[in-house]
Amino acid sequence: MLDELRQQLDGIVNDAIAAFADAADDDVLNQVKARFIGKSGAVTALMKQMRDLTPDERPAFGQAVNTAKQAVQQALDDRRAALRTEARAKELAEGGIDVTLPPPAVPRGALHPLRQTEARMLEVFAEMGYRVAWGPEVESDFHNFEALNFPPDHPARDMQDTFVVEDGRLLRTHTSPVQIRTMLANEPPIRIAAPGAVFRCDTLDMTHSPNFRQVEGLVVDRGITMAHLKGTLQTFASRLFGRSLDVRLRPSFFPFTEPSVEVDVTCPFCDSGCRVCSQSGWIEILGAGMVDPNVFEAVGIDPDVYSGFAFGIGVERVAMLTLGIDDIRHFYDNDLRFLAQFG
Ligand code: PHE
Repeated sequence: MLDELRQQLDGIVNDAIAAFADAADDDVLNQVKARFIGKSGAVTALMKQMRDLTPDERPAFGQAVNTAKQAVQQALDDRRAALRTEARAKELAEGGIDVTLPPPAVPRGALHPLRQTEARMLEVFAEMGYRVAWGPEVESDFHNFEALNFPPDHPARDMQDTFVVEDGRLLRTHTSPVQIRTMLANEPPIRIAAPGAVFRCDTLDMTHSPNFRQVEGLVVDRGITMAHLKGTLQTFASRLFGRSLDVRLRPSFFPFTEPSVEVDVTCPFCDSGCRVCSQSGWIEILGAGMVDPNVFEAVGIDPDVYSGFAFGIGVERVAMLTLGIDDIRHFYDNDLRFLAQFG
């Protein structure tokens, strides 16, 4: 009888070990444990047969039961530890760090295409002897309009075109106020290129932005004529586009230049008409003119002694032409797929 019970105990231990081996998580392990050594488990059930043993057999059976319980508990602990090791190994295999791998490439930044274009424009002017000048983006009415000979009722002063800041100051609508600041602070001869952001109360579309960039040019000296202006712009355009170009001047109007002109260059992209120049062979690139005597008077330069020319070039326009971009909004979207093409 005792031997038979011992064999049954052995059977229970073996079944428990097999059941633990099949269990893959804590819940199942606990269920298996209850099934074998829990209060209503197989071992407890077997202990009820104690009464069929002779009194001197009982201690041996009691011991065998304890040994069996310990063996089941041990099997449980072993299986738990094995599962934990397995999980950890899997975690390492999936997310582990292989220190022998080369590091991921660090992406390299680059100048924004507008800044590249602006830098190239300034480089060409620097080669021609121009100094770079800067002015504030928040300007006074005096520098942005009044000293530039805008009459008080000029439509460009209208609130719709100009972003007005507190105490009468405004976001400059062009880089021309840098002309005024430069002439107030320096005696002629003056030769500057002034880059920077300008602001107009415009709606963003394919060709307009409320915040764009210009490069302003100003030359003041004795005996400066329109021929100097034309030659300068022809040289600038040819160097910028890397090909010998011609310029043509068409009459225009700006309050601060007289005469004022729109300047076209022969199309850098074709010889006989293309999409960019709308088959005309010419592309408008900037506004310019001879400094108006009223402007000289506003800054205390004698117009009977000095003359000068000025021009303003839109950086976006030049960038769209040189980089072949048909929508100004690409410049402001910060889409790396676009920007990375110009790194
Ligand atoms: N300031 C003018 C504009 O923004 C451009 C310009 C500059 C024209 C200098 C003539 C001379 O449109």
